[in-house]
Amino acid sequence: MQAIVHSSAVVGMDALGVLVETNIALGLPAFIIVGLPDTAIQESRERVRAGIAASRLDFPLNRITVNLAPADVRKEGPCFDLAIAISVLAASGQLPPEAADKWTLVGELSLTGELRPVRGVLSIALAARAAGKEGIVVPSENAAEAAHVDNLKALPARRLRDVVDFLRGTLPIDPVEPNGTGAAPQDTPDVDFADVKGQQHVKRALEVAAAGGHNVLMIGPPGSGKTMLARRVSSVLPQLDIDESIELTRIYSVAGVLAPNAGLVRKRPFRAPHHTISQAGLAGGGSHPRPGEISLAHHGVLFLDELPEFGPGALQVLRQPLEDGSVTISRARMTLRYPARFTLLAAMNPCPCGHLGDSARPCSCSQAQICAYRQRIGGPLLDRLDIQVEVPRLAAEELTSTRSSEPSARIRDRVERARRRQRNRLRGASSCNGGMTSRQLHRWCALGAEETRFMRAAVDRLGLSARAYDRVLKVSRTIADLAGRDEIALSDLAEAIQYRCLDREQLS
Ligand SMILES: Nc1ncnc2c1ncn2[C@@H]1O[C@H](COP(=O)(O)OP(=O)(O)O)[C@@H](O)[C@H]1O
Ligand SMILES: [Mg+2]
Repeated sequence: MQAIVHSSAVVGMDALGVLVETNIALGLPAFIIVGLPDTAIQESRERVRAGIAASRLDFPLNRITVNLAPADVRKEGPCFDLAIAISVLAASGQLPPEAADKWTLVGELSLTGELRPVRGVLSIALAARAAGKEGIVVPSENAAEAAHVDNLKALPARRLRDVVDFLRGTLPIDPVEPNGTGAAPQDTPDVDFADVKGQQHVKRALEVAAAGGHNVLMIGPPGSGKTMLARRVSSVLPQLDIDESIELTRIYSVAGVLAPNAGLVRKRPFRAPHHTISQAGLAGGGSHPRPGEISLAHHGVLFLDELPEFGPGALQVLRQPLEDGSVTISRARMTLRYPARFTLLAAMNPCPCGHLGDSARPCSCSQAQICAYRQRIGGPLLDRLDIQVEVPRLAAEELTSTRSSEPSARIRDRVERARRRQRNRLRGASSCNGGMTSRQLHRWCALGAEETRFMRAAVDRLGLSARAYDRVLKVSRTIADLAGRDEIALSDLAEAIQYRCLDREQLS
Protein backbone atom coordinates (compact mmCIF):
# COMPACT_ATOMS: atom_id res chain seq x y z
CA MET A 1 0.00 0.00 0.00
CA GLN A 2 1.08 3.57 -0.78
CA ALA A 3 0.35 6.97 0.70
CA ILE A 4 1.57 10.51 0.12
CA VAL A 5 1.37 13.32 2.70
CA HIS A 6 2.50 16.94 2.26
CA SER A 7 5.00 18.52 4.61
CA SER A 8 7.53 21.33 4.34
CA ALA A 9 11.23 22.03 4.94
CA VAL A 10 12.74 25.40 5.81
CA VAL A 11 15.79 26.29 3.72
CA GLY A 12 17.21 29.69 4.59
CA MET A 13 14.18 31.95 5.02
CA ASP A 14 11.91 30.03 2.68
CA ALA A 15 9.95 26.83 3.03
CA LEU A 16 9.85 24.20 0.31
CA GLY A 17 7.18 21.58 -0.14
CA VAL A 18 8.26 18.07 0.84
CA LEU A 19 6.31 14.95 -0.11
CA VAL A 20 6.34 12.15 2.42
CA GLU A 21 5.74 8.96 0.43
CA THR A 22 5.26 5.69 2.27
CA ASN A 23 5.24 2.22 0.83
CA ILE A 24 4.31 -0.81 2.90
CA ALA A 25 5.31 -4.16 1.47
CA LEU A 26 5.28 -7.70 2.76
CA GLY A 27 8.52 -8.79 4.27
CA LEU A 28 10.43 -8.79 7.52
CA PRO A 29 9.50 -5.85 9.76
CA ALA A 30 11.65 -2.84 8.90
CA PHE A 31 11.26 0.95 9.02
CA ILE A 32 13.48 2.77 6.54
CA ILE A 33 13.55 6.52 5.81
CA VAL A 34 15.32 7.70 2.65
CA GLY A 35 15.74 11.07 0.97
CA LEU A 36 18.96 12.48 2.39
CA PRO A 37 17.80 12.59 5.97
CA ASP A 38 20.27 13.68 8.58
CA THR A 39 20.60 12.10 11.99
CA ALA A 40 17.59 14.01 13.29
CA ILE A 41 15.40 12.15 10.84
CA GLN A 42 16.82 8.78 11.88
CA GLU A 43 15.81 9.73 15.41
CA SER A 44 12.42 10.63 14.10
CA ARG A 45 11.91 6.91 13.27
CA GLU A 46 11.95 6.08 16.95
CA ARG A 47 9.59 8.92 17.85
CA VAL A 48 7.13 8.00 15.11
CA ARG A 49 7.13 4.35 16.14
CA ALA A 50 6.60 5.19 19.82
CA GLY A 51 4.13 8.00 19.09
CA ILE A 52 1.88 5.76 16.98
CA ALA A 53 1.89 3.02 19.61
CA ALA A 54 1.13 5.53 22.39
CA SER A 55 -1.84 6.88 20.41
CA ARG A 56 -3.59 3.48 20.46
CA LEU A 57 -2.95 3.01 16.73
CA ASP A 58 -1.18 0.12 15.01
CA PHE A 59 2.40 0.38 13.90
CA PRO A 60 2.48 -2.00 10.89
CA LEU A 61 4.78 -5.00 11.28
CA ASN A 62 5.83 -5.08 7.63
CA ARG A 63 8.55 -3.56 5.53
CA ILE A 64 7.89 0.23 5.66
CA THR A 65 9.82 2.55 3.36
CA VAL A 66 9.40 6.31 3.71
CA ASN A 67 10.81 8.62 1.06
CA LEU A 68 11.13 12.37 1.64
CA ALA A 69 11.09 14.02 -1.77
CA PRO A 70 12.70 15.95 -3.38
CA ALA A 71 15.86 14.11 -2.34
CA ASP A 72 18.23 16.98 -3.07
CA VAL A 73 16.77 19.33 -0.48
CA ARG A 74 18.74 19.04 2.72
CA LYS A 75 16.25 18.28 5.44
CA GLU A 76 16.92 18.87 9.07
CA GLY A 77 15.18 18.84 12.37
CA PRO A 78 12.18 17.03 13.71
CA CYS A 79 9.42 18.83 11.83
CA PHE A 80 8.53 15.84 9.59
CA ASP A 81 7.47 13.50 12.46
CA LEU A 82 3.77 14.26 12.13
CA ALA A 83 3.68 13.87 8.34
CA ILE A 84 5.66 10.61 8.52
CA ALA A 85 3.28 9.18 11.13
CA ILE A 86 0.20 10.18 9.14
CA SER A 87 1.72 8.79 5.97
CA VAL A 88 2.45 5.43 7.65
CA LEU A 89 -1.09 5.29 9.05
CA ALA A 90 -2.62 6.10 5.66
CA ALA A 91 -0.46 3.52 3.87
CA SER A 92 -1.52 0.87 6.38
CA GLY A 93 -5.20 1.61 5.80
CA GLN A 94 -5.86 3.28 9.15
CA LEU A 95 -6.85 6.54 7.42
CA PRO A 96 -8.77 7.17 4.19
CA PRO A 97 -6.15 7.40 1.38
CA GLU A 98 -6.78 11.04 0.35
CA ALA A 99 -7.72 12.35 3.79
CA ALA A 100 -4.65 14.56 4.21
CA ASP A 101 -4.38 15.90 0.65
CA LYS A 102 -5.69 19.40 1.40
CA TRP A 103 -3.29 20.01 4.28
CA THR A 104 0.36 20.64 4.97
CA LEU A 105 1.41 18.85 8.14
CA VAL A 106 4.34 19.78 10.36
CA GLY A 107 5.23 18.97 13.95
CA GLU A 108 7.58 17.06 16.20
CA LEU A 109 6.25 14.01 18.05
CA SER A 110 7.02 13.07 21.60
CA LEU A 111 7.26 9.43 22.61
CA THR A 112 3.81 9.74 24.16
CA GLY A 113 2.23 11.03 20.94
CA GLU A 114 2.04 14.71 21.90
CA LEU A 115 2.99 17.36 19.32
CA ARG A 116 5.86 19.74 19.99
CA PRO A 117 6.41 23.13 18.30
CA VAL A 118 8.86 23.54 15.41
CA ARG A 119 10.79 26.43 13.83
CA GLY A 120 9.87 28.38 10.72
CA VAL A 121 6.09 27.89 10.78
CA LEU A 122 5.30 31.33 9.34
CA SER A 123 7.47 30.60 6.29
CA ILE A 124 5.89 27.13 6.02
CA ALA A 125 2.40 28.62 6.14
CA LEU A 126 3.25 31.14 3.40
CA ALA A 127 4.57 28.31 1.22
CA ALA A 128 1.46 26.20 1.91
CA ARG A 129 -0.78 29.02 0.76
CA ALA A 130 1.34 29.53 -2.36
CA ALA A 131 0.96 25.79 -3.06
CA GLY A 132 -2.83 26.16 -2.90
CA LYS A 133 -3.40 24.21 0.32
CA GLU A 134 -6.60 24.76 2.27
CA GLY A 135 -4.69 24.84 5.51
CA ILE A 136 -1.86 23.74 7.70
CA VAL A 137 -1.97 21.39 10.67
CA VAL A 138 0.55 22.43 13.32
CA PRO A 139 1.32 21.92 17.00
CA SER A 140 -0.97 24.25 18.95
CA GLU A 141 1.93 26.46 20.14
CA ASN A 142 2.66 27.28 16.47
CA ALA A 143 -0.92 27.98 15.42
CA ALA A 144 -1.00 31.70 16.29
CA GLU A 145 2.03 32.21 14.09
CA ALA A 146 0.51 30.34 11.13
CA ALA A 147 -2.74 32.26 11.56
CA HIS A 148 -1.11 35.48 10.35
CA VAL A 149 -1.31 34.16 6.80
CA ASP A 150 -4.64 35.14 5.19
CA ASN A 151 -6.72 32.66 3.24
CA LEU A 152 -5.14 29.68 4.96
CA LYS A 153 -6.61 27.71 7.85
CA ALA A 154 -4.28 27.24 10.80
CA LEU A 155 -5.40 24.09 12.61
CA PRO A 156 -3.92 23.56 16.07
CA ALA A 157 -3.33 20.03 17.30
CA ARG A 158 -2.08 18.81 20.67
CA ARG A 159 -1.65 15.12 19.93
CA LEU A 160 -1.15 12.80 16.99
CA ARG A 161 -4.41 11.14 17.95
CA ASP A 162 -6.31 14.44 17.43
CA VAL A 163 -4.94 14.77 13.90
CA VAL A 164 -5.94 11.19 13.10
CA ASP A 165 -9.47 11.72 14.43
CA PHE A 166 -9.73 15.00 12.52
CA LEU A 167 -8.68 13.35 9.25
CA ARG A 168 -11.13 10.50 9.91
CA GLY A 169 -13.83 13.15 10.26
CA THR A 170 -14.69 12.30 13.85
CA LEU A 171 -13.11 15.33 15.57
CA PRO A 172 -13.65 18.88 14.32
CA ILE A 173 -10.73 21.31 14.78
CA ASP A 174 -11.44 25.05 14.55
CA PRO A 175 -8.87 27.23 12.79
CA VAL A 176 -7.08 29.72 15.04
CA GLU A 177 -7.77 33.43 14.43
CA PRO A 178 -4.81 35.81 14.25
CA ASN A 179 -4.12 37.78 17.40
CA GLY A 180 -2.80 41.27 16.93
CA THR A 181 -0.23 41.83 19.58
CA GLY A 182 3.18 40.54 20.42
CA ALA A 183 6.41 42.04 21.58
CA ALA A 184 9.96 41.71 20.30
CA PRO A 185 11.61 38.66 21.84
CA GLN A 186 14.34 40.82 23.27
CA ASP A 187 12.37 43.65 24.72
CA THR A 188 14.03 46.82 25.83
CA PRO A 189 12.54 48.37 28.94
CA ASP A 190 10.95 51.74 28.37
CA VAL A 191 13.76 54.18 27.98
CA ASP A 192 13.70 57.78 26.87
CA PHE A 193 16.22 60.38 25.75
CA ALA A 194 14.74 62.66 28.41
CA ASP A 195 16.78 60.63 30.96
CA VAL A 196 20.06 61.68 29.39
CA LYS A 197 21.55 64.94 30.63
CA GLY A 198 23.65 67.12 28.34
CA GLN A 199 25.44 65.37 25.43
CA GLN A 200 23.49 67.50 22.96
CA HIS A 201 25.84 66.84 20.06
CA VAL A 202 25.69 63.05 20.60
CA LYS A 203 21.90 63.12 20.70
CA ARG A 204 21.88 65.14 17.51
CA ALA A 205 24.21 62.57 15.85
CA LEU A 206 21.95 59.72 16.97
CA GLU A 207 18.91 61.57 15.63
CA VAL A 208 20.60 61.91 12.24
CA ALA A 209 21.51 58.21 12.39
CA ALA A 210 17.93 57.19 13.21
CA ALA A 211 16.51 59.43 10.50
CA GLY A 212 18.74 58.12 7.72
CA GLY A 213 19.64 54.61 8.90
CA HIS A 214 23.31 55.50 9.35
CA ASN A 215 25.87 53.53 11.33
CA VAL A 216 27.41 55.19 14.37
CA LEU A 217 30.59 54.79 16.40
CA MET A 218 30.63 56.46 19.81
CA ILE A 219 34.03 57.03 21.40
CA GLY A 220 34.39 58.06 25.00
CA PRO A 221 35.75 57.15 28.45
CA PRO A 222 33.98 54.54 30.63
CA GLY A 223 30.87 55.89 32.32
CA SER A 224 30.35 58.72 29.87
CA GLY A 225 26.94 57.31 28.90
CA LYS A 226 27.62 55.49 25.61
CA THR A 227 25.59 52.41 26.49
CA MET A 228 22.85 54.57 27.96
CA LEU A 229 22.59 56.63 24.76
CA ALA A 230 22.65 53.59 22.45
CA ARG A 231 19.78 51.92 24.29
CA ARG A 232 17.62 54.94 23.63
CA VAL A 233 17.94 54.96 19.86
CA SER A 234 15.11 52.44 19.38
CA SER A 235 12.79 54.88 21.14
CA VAL A 236 13.08 57.38 18.28
CA LEU A 237 12.75 54.92 15.39
CA PRO A 238 9.44 54.90 13.48
CA GLN A 239 6.92 52.07 13.97
CA LEU A 240 7.35 48.90 11.94
CA ASP A 241 4.92 48.57 9.07
CA ILE A 242 3.05 45.30 8.56
CA ASP A 243 5.38 43.90 5.87
CA GLU A 244 8.41 44.59 8.03
CA SER A 245 6.64 42.92 10.96
CA ILE A 246 5.94 39.77 8.98
CA GLU A 247 9.49 39.62 7.64
CA LEU A 248 10.91 40.00 11.15
CA THR A 249 8.56 37.38 12.55
CA ARG A 250 9.72 34.92 9.90
CA ILE A 251 13.33 35.52 10.87
CA TYR A 252 12.61 35.02 14.57
CA SER A 253 10.59 31.90 13.78
CA VAL A 254 13.31 30.36 11.61
CA ALA A 255 15.84 31.19 14.33
CA GLY A 256 13.62 29.41 16.85
CA VAL A 257 13.45 32.36 19.24
CA LEU A 258 9.77 33.22 18.86
CA ALA A 259 7.86 32.67 22.09
CA PRO A 260 5.03 30.08 21.93
CA ASN A 261 1.66 31.59 20.97
CA ALA A 262 3.45 34.82 20.12
CA GLY A 263 1.91 37.29 17.73
CA LEU A 264 3.86 39.20 15.12
CA VAL A 265 7.03 40.97 16.16
CA ARG A 266 5.84 44.58 16.45
CA LYS A 267 8.80 46.36 17.96
CA ARG A 268 12.01 47.27 16.23
CA PRO A 269 14.71 44.97 17.53
CA PHE A 270 17.57 46.15 19.68
CA ARG A 271 20.21 43.42 19.79
CA ALA A 272 23.31 43.79 21.92
CA PRO A 273 25.47 40.66 21.60
CA HIS A 274 28.50 40.33 23.90
CA HIS A 275 31.94 40.61 22.30
CA THR A 276 32.68 36.93 23.00
CA ILE A 277 29.98 35.88 20.51
CA SER A 278 31.07 33.43 17.81
CA GLN A 279 31.14 34.32 14.15
CA ALA A 280 28.19 31.99 13.47
CA GLY A 281 26.26 33.49 16.38
CA LEU A 282 26.74 36.95 14.96
CA ALA A 283 26.33 36.38 11.23
CA GLY A 284 24.32 33.18 11.19
CA GLY A 285 25.23 29.67 10.08
CA GLY A 286 26.22 26.60 12.06
CA SER A 287 25.65 22.97 11.16
CA HIS A 288 21.88 23.47 11.19
CA PRO A 289 22.02 26.99 9.72
CA ARG A 290 20.12 29.66 11.59
CA PRO A 291 19.97 33.44 11.36
CA GLY A 292 22.49 35.21 13.60
CA GLU A 293 22.30 38.41 15.66
CA ILE A 294 22.68 40.64 12.60
CA SER A 295 19.49 39.14 11.12
CA LEU A 296 17.68 39.29 14.45
CA ALA A 297 18.51 43.03 14.33
CA HIS A 298 16.90 43.39 10.86
CA HIS A 299 14.93 46.67 10.62
CA GLY A 300 16.35 47.65 14.00
CA VAL A 301 19.55 48.29 15.90
CA LEU A 302 22.62 46.11 16.37
CA PHE A 303 24.64 47.48 19.27
CA LEU A 304 28.25 46.36 19.56
CA ASP A 305 29.61 47.64 22.85
CA GLU A 306 33.43 47.63 23.25
CA LEU A 307 33.86 47.26 19.48
CA PRO A 308 37.65 46.56 19.46
CA GLU A 309 37.09 43.57 21.75
CA PHE A 310 35.14 41.71 19.06
CA GLY A 311 37.28 39.17 17.22
CA PRO A 312 38.71 40.15 13.83
CA GLY A 313 36.61 37.42 12.18
CA ALA A 314 33.42 38.80 13.68
CA LEU A 315 34.19 42.33 12.51
CA GLN A 316 35.01 41.13 9.03
CA VAL A 317 31.70 39.30 8.55
CA LEU A 318 29.88 42.57 9.24
CA ARG A 319 31.16 44.19 6.07
CA GLN A 320 29.06 42.45 3.45
CA PRO A 321 25.74 42.85 5.32
CA LEU A 322 26.52 46.52 5.96
CA GLU A 323 26.70 47.03 2.18
CA ASP A 324 24.01 44.63 0.96
CA GLY A 325 21.46 44.45 3.77
CA SER A 326 21.73 40.67 3.81
CA VAL A 327 24.18 37.93 4.69
CA THR A 328 25.14 34.97 2.53
CA ILE A 329 26.07 31.66 4.10
CA SER A 330 27.78 29.11 1.89
CA ARG A 331 27.50 25.41 2.50
CA ALA A 332 28.84 22.48 0.52
CA ARG A 333 25.68 22.03 -1.50
CA MET A 334 23.77 25.25 -1.03
CA THR A 335 23.93 28.95 -0.40
CA LEU A 336 21.56 30.59 2.05
CA ARG A 337 20.68 34.24 2.37
CA TYR A 338 19.25 35.88 5.46
CA PRO A 339 18.05 39.49 5.54
CA ALA A 340 20.24 41.74 7.70
CA ARG A 341 19.46 45.42 7.16
CA PHE A 342 20.26 46.94 10.52
CA THR A 343 21.62 50.18 11.90
CA LEU A 344 24.96 49.47 13.52
CA LEU A 345 25.69 51.33 16.73
CA ALA A 346 29.12 50.72 18.13
CA ALA A 347 30.87 52.04 21.20
CA MET A 348 34.50 52.06 22.25
CA ASN A 349 36.90 53.65 24.66
CA PRO A 350 39.40 56.08 23.10
CA CYS A 351 42.33 53.91 24.23
CA PRO A 352 42.95 50.64 26.14
CA CYS A 353 42.83 52.29 29.59
CA GLY A 354 39.86 54.39 28.50
CA HIS A 355 41.04 57.79 29.69
CA LEU A 356 42.66 59.40 26.67
CA GLY A 357 41.36 62.96 26.55
CA ASP A 358 39.44 62.42 29.81
CA SER A 359 39.19 65.52 31.96
CA ALA A 360 38.95 63.44 35.13
CA ARG A 361 41.94 61.09 34.85
CA PRO A 362 45.21 60.86 32.93
CA CYS A 363 45.72 58.21 30.28
CA SER A 364 48.36 55.56 30.98
CA CYS A 365 48.67 54.12 27.46
CA SER A 366 51.62 54.41 25.12
CA GLN A 367 51.13 55.74 21.61
CA ALA A 368 51.82 52.25 20.23
CA GLN A 369 49.13 50.70 22.46
CA ILE A 370 46.59 53.29 21.33
CA CYS A 371 47.38 52.65 17.66
CA ALA A 372 47.17 48.87 18.04
CA TYR A 373 43.85 49.21 19.87
CA ARG A 374 42.31 51.35 17.14
CA GLN A 375 43.71 49.26 14.34
CA ARG A 376 41.69 46.31 15.56
CA ILE A 377 38.65 47.91 13.95
CA GLY A 378 40.27 48.21 10.55
CA GLY A 379 39.84 50.83 7.85
CA PRO A 380 37.12 49.09 5.78
CA LEU A 381 34.78 48.79 8.75
CA LEU A 382 35.62 52.31 9.94
CA ASP A 383 34.69 53.67 6.50
CA ARG A 384 31.27 52.10 6.88
CA LEU A 385 30.65 53.82 10.21
CA ASP A 386 29.13 56.97 8.72
CA ILE A 387 28.99 58.88 11.96
CA GLN A 388 31.86 58.88 14.45
CA VAL A 389 31.19 60.95 17.50
CA GLU A 390 33.03 61.65 20.73
CA VAL A 391 31.16 61.21 24.00
CA PRO A 392 33.00 63.23 26.67
CA ARG A 393 32.51 62.78 30.37
CA LEU A 394 29.76 65.11 31.61
CA ALA A 395 30.90 68.20 33.49
CA ALA A 396 29.77 68.40 37.12
CA GLU A 397 27.31 71.23 36.49
CA GLU A 398 25.61 69.32 33.69
CA LEU A 399 25.41 66.12 35.74
CA THR A 400 23.79 67.90 38.67
CA SER A 401 21.53 70.07 36.56
CA THR A 402 17.81 69.48 36.92
CA ARG A 403 16.88 70.88 33.52
CA SER A 404 14.89 68.26 31.68
CA SER A 405 15.96 67.11 28.23
CA GLU A 406 13.87 66.69 25.10
CA PRO A 407 11.74 63.54 25.23
CA SER A 408 12.09 60.77 22.63
CA ALA A 409 8.56 61.34 21.27
CA ARG A 410 9.51 64.79 19.95
CA ILE A 411 12.69 63.47 18.35
CA ARG A 412 10.73 60.61 16.80
CA ASP A 413 8.36 63.09 15.12
CA ARG A 414 11.30 64.72 13.35
CA VAL A 415 12.75 61.32 12.43
CA GLU A 416 9.44 60.22 10.95
CA ARG A 417 9.11 63.36 8.90
CA ALA A 418 12.63 62.92 7.50
CA ARG A 419 11.91 59.26 6.72
CA ARG A 420 8.76 60.19 4.86
CA ARG A 421 10.77 62.50 2.61
CA GLN A 422 13.21 59.67 1.92
CA ARG A 423 10.46 57.15 1.19
CA ASN A 424 8.88 59.45 -1.36
CA ARG A 425 12.21 59.84 -3.09
CA LEU A 426 13.77 56.38 -2.87
CA ARG A 427 11.91 53.27 -3.81
CA GLY A 428 13.28 49.77 -3.52
CA ALA A 429 14.95 47.55 -0.96
CA SER A 430 16.05 50.38 1.29
CA SER A 431 14.07 53.53 1.75
CA CYS A 432 16.75 55.18 3.87
CA ASN A 433 19.55 57.45 2.79
CA GLY A 434 22.02 55.13 4.52
CA GLY A 435 21.18 52.36 2.05
CA MET A 436 21.21 54.42 -1.17
CA THR A 437 22.78 52.73 -4.19
CA SER A 438 25.51 54.62 -6.03
CA ARG A 439 23.05 55.53 -8.75
CA GLN A 440 20.62 56.97 -6.21
CA LEU A 441 23.49 58.76 -4.54
CA HIS A 442 24.42 60.35 -7.85
CA ARG A 443 20.89 61.42 -8.53
CA TRP A 444 19.89 62.74 -5.10
CA CYS A 445 23.12 64.11 -3.70
CA ALA A 446 24.13 66.45 -6.51
CA LEU A 447 26.09 69.41 -5.14
CA GLY A 448 26.20 73.02 -6.21
CA ALA A 449 29.48 74.68 -7.33
CA GLU A 450 30.38 76.08 -3.93
CA GLU A 451 29.52 72.81 -2.17
CA THR A 452 31.67 70.87 -4.64
CA ARG A 453 34.63 73.15 -3.94
CA PHE A 454 34.13 72.65 -0.23
CA MET A 455 34.08 68.87 -0.55
CA ARG A 456 37.18 68.85 -2.77
CA ALA A 457 39.08 70.72 -0.10
CA ALA A 458 37.77 68.36 2.58
CA VAL A 459 38.82 65.24 0.68
CA ASP A 460 42.33 66.66 0.26
CA ARG A 461 42.63 67.73 3.86
CA LEU A 462 41.18 64.61 5.51
CA GLY A 463 42.29 62.05 2.95
CA LEU A 464 38.77 60.63 2.75
CA SER A 465 38.48 57.31 0.93
CA ALA A 466 35.96 57.03 -1.90
CA ARG A 467 33.66 55.06 0.40
CA ALA A 468 33.99 57.61 3.19
CA TYR A 469 33.21 60.38 0.70
CA ASP A 470 29.98 58.64 -0.35
CA ARG A 471 29.04 58.18 3.28
CA VAL A 472 29.55 61.88 3.99
CA LEU A 473 27.21 62.71 1.11
CA LYS A 474 24.55 60.31 2.42
CA VAL A 475 24.73 61.74 5.93
CA SER A 476 24.46 65.28 4.61
CA ARG A 477 21.40 64.22 2.57
CA THR A 478 19.78 63.09 5.84
CA ILE A 479 20.72 66.31 7.62
CA ALA A 480 19.06 68.25 4.78
CA ASP A 481 15.99 65.99 5.05
CA LEU A 482 15.72 66.70 8.77
CA ALA A 483 15.72 70.39 7.91
CA GLY A 484 13.17 69.82 5.13
CA ARG A 485 15.59 71.01 2.43
CA ASP A 486 15.70 69.61 -1.11
CA GLU A 487 19.23 70.80 -1.83
CA ILE A 488 22.23 69.86 0.28
CA ALA A 489 23.63 73.03 1.82
CA LEU A 490 27.19 73.85 2.93
CA SER A 491 26.17 73.61 6.55
CA ASP A 492 24.83 70.07 5.97
CA LEU A 493 28.17 68.99 4.49
CA ALA A 494 30.10 70.66 7.29
CA GLU A 495 28.08 68.82 9.93
CA ALA A 496 28.49 65.50 8.12
CA ILE A 497 32.25 65.92 7.86
CA GLN A 498 32.47 66.81 11.50
CA TYR A 499 31.10 63.30 12.20
CA ARG A 500 34.28 61.71 10.93
CA CYS A 501 36.35 62.36 14.03
CA LEU A 502 38.58 59.29 13.67
CA ASP A 503 39.55 60.26 10.13
CA ARG A 504 40.38 63.71 11.43
CA GLU A 505 42.40 62.35 14.34
CA GLN A 506 44.39 59.90 12.29
CA LEU A 507 45.66 62.93 10.47
CA SER A 508 47.13 64.52 13.55
N1 LIG B 1 24.39 62.08 30.24
C1 LIG B 1 23.98 61.36 31.28
N2 LIG B 1 22.83 61.67 31.91
C2 LIG B 1 22.42 60.94 32.96
N3 LIG B 1 23.07 59.87 33.45
C3 LIG B 1 24.24 59.52 32.89
C4 LIG B 1 24.75 60.24 31.76
N4 LIG B 1 25.90 59.66 31.39
C5 LIG B 1 26.10 58.61 32.21
N5 LIG B 1 25.10 58.52 33.12
C6 LIG B 1 25.00 57.51 34.18
O1 LIG B 1 26.19 56.74 34.19
C7 LIG B 1 25.90 55.37 34.01
C8 LIG B 1 26.95 54.70 33.17
O2 LIG B 1 26.81 55.04 31.82
P1 LIG B 1 27.10 54.05 30.66
O3 LIG B 1 26.15 54.31 29.58
O4 LIG B 1 27.17 52.64 31.14
O5 LIG B 1 28.56 54.51 30.23
P2 LIG B 1 29.55 53.86 29.18
O6 LIG B 1 28.79 52.88 28.38
O7 LIG B 1 30.04 55.02 28.38
O8 LIG B 1 30.64 53.24 29.97
C9 LIG B 1 24.54 55.35 33.39
O9 LIG B 1 23.84 54.19 33.71
C10 LIG B 1 23.87 56.58 33.96
O10 LIG B 1 23.30 56.26 35.21
MG1 LIG C 1 29.20 50.83 28.25
